[in-house]
Amino acid sequence: MSGLIPQRFVEDLLDRIDLAELIGSRVTLKKAGGNYKARCPFHDEKTPSFNVRPDKGFYHCFGCGAHGDAISFVREFDGLGFTDAVEELARRAGMEVPYDQNARQEMQQARTLTDALDYASRFYQGSLRGQQGEFARDYLKQRGLDDSIIEQYMLGYAPGTGTALFDSASKDLQAPLIETGTVSDRYGRPRDLFRNRVMFPIRNSRGKTIAFGGRALGDDKAKYINSPESDVFHKSREIYGLYEAKQSIRQLDKLLVVEGYMDVIALAQNGIHFAVATLGTATNQDSLSALLKQVRHLVFCFDGDQAGYRAADKAMENALELLTDGLHLQFLMMPDGEDPDTLVRKEGAEAFQKRIDGATPLSRYLFNRQSEGLDLTLPEDRGELKARTEPLLRKMPKSTLRDAMWHEMLRLCGNNRGDWQNRRQKNGKGGYSERRVQEQRIDVKLSKDTQLCLALLEAPDMASEIAELCRSSRQYRQAGQFAGWILEAGIKDRRSLIYQLATDKRARDQFYGLFDGIEHVPAREQTLAGAREMLNPNQEVARKQRLASLLSEKRSLADLTAEERQELKALSGQSDD
Ligand code: UTP
Ligand code: MN
Repeated sequence: MSGLIPQRFVEDLLDRIDLAELIGSRVTLKKAGGNYKARCPFHDEKTPSFNVRPDKGFYHCFGCGAHGDAISFVREFDGLGFTDAVEELARRAGMEVPYDQNARQEMQQARTLTDALDYASRFYQGSLRGQQGEFARDYLKQRGLDDSIIEQYMLGYAPGTGTALFDSASKDLQAPLIETGTVSDRYGRPRDLFRNRVMFPIRNSRGKTIAFGGRALGDDKAKYINSPESDVFHKSREIYGLYEAKQSIRQLDKLLVVEGYMDVIALAQNGIHFAVATLGTATNQDSLSALLKQVRHLVFCFDGDQAGYRAADKAMENALELLTDGLHLQFLMMPDGEDPDTLVRKEGAEAFQKRIDGATPLSRYLFNRQSEGLDLTLPEDRGELKARTEPLLRKMPKSTLRDAMWHEMLRLCGNNRGDWQNRRQKNGKGGYSERRVQEQRIDVKLSKDTQLCLALLEAPDMASEIAELCRSSRQYRQAGQFAGWILEAGIKDRRSLIYQLATDKRARDQFYGLFDGIEHVPAREQTLAGAREMLNPNQEVARKQRLASLLSEKRSLADLTAEERQELKALSGQSDD
């Protein structure tokens, strides 16, 4: 989608946005030198480790590793996609987003489809209220739902006759209803897809209807049927109940991921408004990324049967690759034979909330699950545990969490049997995330590799020189990659570097990740001088000597000739920008 908005416009926009003002409008900032500090909006903390650097155009949290620029801040804080985030920033800056012709057409087309689906949704709502909806109303009541929740989730009823929806629609709505599969034309004549079903509209982040799920009222063969994919409905990217959750909770910071429509709604009916369902499997990478775009804390709720554990294992495995610091994943297995809907109705909201609070963190789930059936007093079984867990941990990106889990694996597979038993008995709270935050506070001395990366952030035009240097030495791996990426992307200046980082999440995670654990990023001049020294040690020594002699020969600047003053300025690096 990013290609649909001209790069020049995004660059102008990023230039124009005052990051401190933008973030300050949503979070309380305190000035600290040229920077600002705040309590991180992306994780729970008491002392501020969230840093905003308006001069560099980015923010970074030393607690959870959240980082980025104006666009990613709005994306994460407001849970918006790239285009919507640009729209929001443009609105703040009083600019209009110049979409290109194709994009305009696509948006127009999507609008036609969602308008028709909104129409269908209103139609279904109307018929639930009408005479023919009486049986469906009773059904929903008997499942414990009251009018206000039916209203909030816009539940409806699709009449049993074959073409009620189609016949009610005006000519210009009929074609888009067919195009979205809400009405099928399989046999050359129109027929409503949903007949005699309770209707669950699926809405996008703007509240427009993009698809439906429909539940049979009786013992129909197909308990649920769902809209097919269309230009506005991509199953694995959509999250049922997200729009409603956001309407109910202003600052959504965690999601409970359940399996069914009715689970989401029954939980909301009982005051738990942050439940959502992925459509299809919660466990594939697309769904996981879609969820993690919204919040950094997920609690997966699965059935307690074999299939539920298999699904949880899959979610865990797929999540490992995405697990950067600051993400918090937990698992909540339902007792056998229950789902969240039946359980919350049986035991009430408070008891259910307790279960959520006590959900198992991913790290513990992983070790518990992998050591099932093993006797860790036996060396053979400890070896087996290591063989099972090592490949899993290897999937994780480099992070403090990974280090901590690696450590845990070695500890469990060592010979300390008492440790293992203590660990199992300790209850579920605290644990890894607290430890992680502490570890990250440690300020590490900057490696040369990191110094070179910082220089690239300041002066991307040094990329070819730095790439050259990195080719000659293996210790500058990250800088080599960074420089290579800059050259490949054809980045010439800071402006386009910031743009590329704003539009390329992989690159952003990789390179802003450099700041993990660095409390004090050196000033631009210091960074550049350090890099110059590495690039050209002799010349840098000469430069320093010349600078020193210029300054010692004469007592004050006034004593310098114009030429010498010019030279001094150049030597001390004040001439750029
Ligand atoms: P379940 O079979 O667990 O149903 O399917 P449920 O959510 O408990 O539904 P109720 O309580 O009987 O009404 C979970 C989810 O799987 C999808 C639906 O999204 C459903 O909410 N599903 C299930 C289908 O798409 N088709 C089906 O035939 C069944
Ligand atoms: Mn159910």
